[in-house]
Amino acid sequence: MIYLDNAATSFPKPASCFREALDAYLAAGASPGRGGYDAAVAAEHQVIAVRRAMAAYVGAPDYVTCFAANATDALNTLLQGLVRPGDHVISTRLEHNSVLRPLHHLREAGIISFDLAPFNAYGVVEPRALEALFQPNTRLVMLNHASNVLGTLQPAAEIGAICAERGVPLLLDASQSAGAAPIDLLAWKVSALAFTGHKSLMGPPGIGGLVLDPALEVRPSRWGGTGVDSESVLHSREYPERLEAGTINLLGIMTLGRCLERLATPEAAEAAGREAMLHARLVEGLAALEGVTVHCPGSGAGRIPVVSFNLEGWPPHDVGMVLDGDYEIAVRTGLHCAPLLHQDLGHGAAGSVRVSLGPFNTAPDVEALLAALSEMLGQS
Ligand SMILES: Cc1ncc(COP(=O)(O)O)c(C=O)c1O
Repeated sequence: MIYLDNAATSFPKPASCFREALDAYLAAGASPGRGGYDAAVAAEHQVIAVRRAMAAYVGAPDYVTCFAANATDALNTLLQGLVRPGDHVISTRLEHNSVLRPLHHLREAGIISFDLAPFNAYGVVEPRALEALFQPNTRLVMLNHASNVLGTLQPAAEIGAICAERGVPLLLDASQSAGAAPIDLLAWKVSALAFTGHKSLMGPPGIGGLVLDPALEVRPSRWGGTGVDSESVLHSREYPERLEAGTINLLGIMTLGRCLERLATPEAAEAAGREAMLHARLVEGLAALEGVTVHCPGSGAGRIPVVSFNLEGWPPHDVGMVLDGDYEIAVRTGLHCAPLLHQDLGHGAAGSVRVSLGPFNTAPDVEALLAALSEMLGQS
């Protein structure tokens, strides 16, 4: 199989990171923060190290990392823990359902109102368009850092400056960008970031979280055991425990830790360079095919290697079926959990075909895709 669906989840994974973490877990996988014996303390130290590494990786070494199951969990935790009845939230029409659905449910429940900023013909939200949506009761801005459909990076620094001027926190959804593009939370004045471990960070599913400014007062939406302040029947107010109820995913955290170390290696930098070249070749190759419309095309700076397109005369679903069945090429088709973006691009419910590259893709993978599409269009 040629795997070109890395924006859904990266595959394959860096096996040595997974093996090392599993070995360490099997050797001393006690419950972190729950016991005073050596193994529990050692596990706790490993978790603390990964919390720090994650915060440092996104440019905010003094922020706190609160682990969650994934980005969806983290985004819900922050949004629901921050807004109060009558608050207003700003987000964008580029968002994933993990932001859109919580916003719509909170509005349906009569708790919040919200407005969504449009994106321009280049797939980018213009800071001034977002700025125009501020109201006196705006409590939070939520921004998808890298579109999971178009691959476009959003102007987080400019939007961060606008939010900081108004004293409104900016929550960055870095599900697609973490591991794929530089992130500098402090420089960009971002108050919180949601991440998921299983995409470009190259970790396993089931681990994600928030990296947030500890001055941000987020109410926990779940209460339970934390291993600290156990004498109190009320949940701990201290971060990170405040937003973590119950036993955390130690194996996931240990694996994520190894994956973060790997991202700092020369091999990872080399793979990222190769990926950028493949991305450029993919965009160029698609543009050369008659009957292919690439949405907001581009590569290089300001992009992650995610490309969406439609084939004239072909429903996207059929493209995916033929690529899989006849060519053993795995791509994603449909709405990619971003229905408003497709509405605005005029795709209707069928959506698009999405190709997303990863560090293990090679030039022959991209050429095989281009050749398959060319054959399907009767151009070879
Ligand atoms: C932009 C964006 N946000 C959020 C998510 C949700 O990630 P997870 O399913 O890991 O919670 C995704 C996953 O596709 C995404 O692409």
